[in-house]
Amino acid sequence: MTVLVTGGAGYIGSHTVLTLLGAGHDVVVLDNLCNSSRESLRRIEALAGQAVPFIEGDIRDRACLDRLFALHDIDAVIHFAGLKAVGESMQKPLAYFDNNVSGSLCLFQAMAAAGVYRIVFSSSATVYGEPGTPVFREDMPTGTPTNTYGQTKLMVEQMLQALVGAGGAWSVALLRYFNPVGAHESGQIGEDPQGIPNNLVPFISQVAVGRLESLSVFGDDYPTRDGTGIRDYIHVMDLAEGHLKAMEALANRPGVNVWNLGTGTGYSVLEMVAAYEKACGRPIPYKIAPRRAGDIAEFWADPTKAAEELGWKAERGLEAMMTDTWRWQSRNPQGYRNPQEEVA
Ligand code: NAD
Ligand code: WQD
Repeated sequence: MTVLVTGGAGYIGSHTVLTLLGAGHDVVVLDNLCNSSRESLRRIEALAGQAVPFIEGDIRDRACLDRLFALHDIDAVIHFAGLKAVGESMQKPLAYFDNNVSGSLCLFQAMAAAGVYRIVFSSSATVYGEPGTPVFREDMPTGTPTNTYGQTKLMVEQMLQALVGAGGAWSVALLRYFNPVGAHESGQIGEDPQGIPNNLVPFISQVAVGRLESLSVFGDDYPTRDGTGIRDYIHVMDLAEGHLKAMEALANRPGVNVWNLGTGTGYSVLEMVAAYEKACGRPIPYKIAPRRAGDIAEFWADPTKAAEELGWKAERGLEAMMTDTWRWQSRNPQGYRNPQEEVA
């Protein structure tokens, strides 16, 4: 199949592009590079040993999308493009509604005009809100996301539900990710946040590599086994394989399909620090700080539905998540910016 990957130069997109190529699919990448660089695409091409058609463009640019669909015979779209920083979304709600909601609307309009009805959408566990149980299942009602970013994910889910509700040929996968971490095992591609990282593992990585001094652990008084927050961290290559399975499954699954992509196991912040220290062989200095607004104590996926319906299960454990993150970070201490530099 020929797959359009929006946001394919980004963190999860780049790993998914590599996985799709490995499975024999053709890929076209559309990305405006607002949070990524061409270097990730160059490395994908080197790893895959083949060229990947790339259009530098925006999902909000209808003319660009129409040209793309006219030029390439697209069978399915995997839609990663969007903004994802929770804190920033509260300061710049218009940018988030514009990129994530209007951008998705424009993409779906262009797909309909081109007769492409198969779509895999990057949703998030954040759409469950705070359901009062730590185990999130797809048959639970969605909640009220506590931030604008989460609201945009829920709005796009609802948009796709409405398209299916209106009849027609749409086959939709709403993939609700838990906490993606890790990197491709080559150490060639990985997560490259701009500025100070918001998420735990990129922050720890930059402490390990000497770019940041010490980690702030946001709260040690949660009702969890060691008082720190617990999340379901999932290796990005497992996540990428989940996208491949979901996209292929849509051939026989019209309508809306919701799948959690998580491992079903939660780890605390301090457990993550200890695992990273083991992987990198150096101490990670940290201090306990106040809780971060909007955080909940603990949650993880019930991954049963994806296992039963897709035959997909996360295979990589915590050690692989941390070893692969460290390999990427230590070989690329400045991310994609200074490829030559390496940590001793
Ligand atoms: P990322 O920022 O690395 O990738 C997103 C890509 O989309 C970037 O390359 C960016 O340049 C591109 N992009 C943004 N706006 C665009 C636009 N208007 N037009 C074209 N390209 C645009 O982020 P990621 O971590 O790879 O996340 C991918 C998707 O998964 C996002 O939709 C994100 O919300 C979702 N998601 C991420 C996480 C996570 O923790 N990383 C969790 C749940 C869901
Ligand atoms: C994990 C744990 C923090 C940073 C977010 C989004 C979610 C999805 C994934 C995009 C929590 C603690 C963190 C730090 C810390 N993103 N922490 N010090 O908040 O579970 O999820 O990313 O779709 O929508 O909300 O991930 O990595 O920020 O935090 O102690 O410097 O680490 O309190 O317990 P989170 P995270």
